Amino acid sequence: MKIHPVLIALALITAAPFASAAKTCAVAIEGNDQMQYNLKEIKVAADCTEVQLTLKHAGKLPATAMGHNWVLVKTPDIQAIANAGSSAGLPNNYLPKNDARVIASTKVVGGGESTSIKFSTASLKAGGDYSFFCSFPGHWIMMHGKFIFG
Ligand code: CU
Repeated sequence: MKIHPVLIALALITAAPFASAAKTCAVAIEGNDQMQYNLKEIKVAADCTEVQLTLKHAGKLPATAMGHNWVLVKTPDIQAIANAGSSAGLPNNYLPKNDARVIASTKVVGGGESTSIKFSTASLKAGGDYSFFCSFPGHWIMMHGKFIFG
């Protein structure tokens, strides 16, 4: 028995909404010359399959003096990664190389610059304890916040 091409086409159309459930959610955050982010919390809905995050440095100081980045980790990992990142230096964006604990990260930007990344939420658990922080030496103490996925 042969399956009629129209039936195949119908089956594909019906399946399409499930196959194309990808959803990119945009998030924007700013850092400034006072070593602060403008957000203490970022919420991303659990149906977002990807996050497009843009970090803007609204200040004027150069990256060498007041650089900022945005790093997503599990909350208990902040301090260890911040410490390891401090000695990694600006060329490595103040992050240990290939550290699996870093879920997502931007490069370090200076005043007037911005940067954008896209990352998958596949490894995130809805309701998990996540935080974002800046890994420029000493900044994480002031520059951190909750990342709520769910
Ligand atoms: Cu910073």
